[in-house]
Amino acid sequence: MAKKTPHPTTPPRERAFLVGVEIRGAKQLLALEDSLSELALLADTAGVDVVGELTQKLERPHVETYIGPGKVEELKALAEETLADVVIFDDELSPRHQRELQKALGRKIRLIDRTALILDIFAQHAHTSEGMLQVELAQYEYNLPRLTGAWTHLERQAGGGGGRTGSSGGVGLRGPGETQLEVDKRVIRKRITHIKRELEKVEAHRMRYRAQRKRSRIPTVALVGYTNAGKSTLLNQISGAGVYAANQLFATLDPTTRRVQLPGGDLALFTDTVGFIQKLPTTLVAAFHATLEEIAEADLLLHVVDISHPNALNQFEAVQETLEEIDASHIPMVTAFNKSDLLQNLEQARETLKAFPKSVAVSAVQGTGVGELLRLVRRELFEAYDFIRVRLPYSQGALISLFHELGQVERVEHERGGVVMQGRLPGRLLAQFAPWRAQAVESGETLDDFEENVLLEEE
Ligand code: GTP
Repeated sequence: MAKKTPHPTTPPRERAFLVGVEIRGAKQLLALEDSLSELALLADTAGVDVVGELTQKLERPHVETYIGPGKVEELKALAEETLADVVIFDDELSPRHQRELQKALGRKIRLIDRTALILDIFAQHAHTSEGMLQVELAQYEYNLPRLTGAWTHLERQAGGGGGRTGSSGGVGLRGPGETQLEVDKRVIRKRITHIKRELEKVEAHRMRYRAQRKRSRIPTVALVGYTNAGKSTLLNQISGAGVYAANQLFATLDPTTRRVQLPGGDLALFTDTVGFIQKLPTTLVAAFHATLEEIAEADLLLHVVDISHPNALNQFEAVQETLEEIDASHIPMVTAFNKSDLLQNLEQARETLKAFPKSVAVSAVQGTGVGELLRLVRRELFEAYDFIRVRLPYSQGALISLFHELGQVERVEHERGGVVMQGRLPGRLLAQFAPWRAQAVESGETLDDFEENVLLEEE
């Protein structure tokens, strides 16, 4: 029997009420209002309409409800008046805050925080199996301490992508003396272990691929930047590849690598990966560590900044902070100030550029400045040499030959157990040699000490 096709209707968008709090003295990259505007953009990306907002300045968060009791009353009244379906806090709420606030708001209004919102967007945008697993892991890790047995809330949060947090965990699974909540937690823990194991497999594959890439000696450039800065568009422009670019936050989650011929003919691999944001949830950083390692292993970082954004410099800072968090801040960097086609104040842009020595103004959409950017990348990868003196034990034969092959060797001294090499190396190789930097001469360390240290390290 033929089925009647239902009339296509778009479900009405949910209505969100936003809450921002400034804790006096707490370090905050963006001003309260700017952070809330960003939250509104995140809400929009998640498919939610913003119907109002409320802010409060506090000495410290209220023990029970994060905002003060009076504000909670005000919030409840405003949320009801504006017919909000959901209240979104701009900070990560502790499980206790979440519980108490939800109680105060009543059952009709859902409460989520910035972290849950970002996780929701990530879940919607994850496409590869690794991305989906990573998001699912982050969601479970976030949800586990917040479980109160309220499955309906969880189901919705996990529903966007790979999340399957809402699997029944029904009565039949209950062990002797276990409450439903305990069963639920057990099911989730089991699932977390399973995902971690799956991710390990994917990561092992990625490591093999990375090792292969290293052997090929083609240098890698990782595009990093605040979400929506234009990384994917720039990679498209650079490589002519069809990388997905959208005016959405976090459109790209999975690393995309393209081989690019630089001016002069040298090759480089460009990798586009997840965008950063201030207050990037720690569960996400942890779950995405393998993806983020792609950045930490790069020879050069290409930091894409949306120079037309009023908070461009704060966004730059937020990216720097995340790079530090993932141990990538030592990698040489060039900066592409993107969206220069939208600039009103050219003079100010010139000032900004002057403050960043290795930077170029580009428009990824129009292609302007891209040639100059690629020349800068080439220079940094193949021409910029730095002085270094290293003591390499013979066990590091690969590094010794790499120095001879790609560096400009000025002096070699053979010693028992190793060799001291002095000369100039391309900047991109410095990180690999860093652990072997020879400070022995300066610190008065004898050769015997050196050997002992090497032996210790090898043990
Ligand atoms: P995430 O995936 O969130 O990390 O974003 P992304 O940094 O990859 O940004 P993407 O390339 O998706 O671009 C975001 C939006 O900015 C898109 O709407 C682009 O069309 C727009 N955009 C990118 N570059 C430029 C530019 O040079 N000029 C203008 N006017 N718009 C640009």
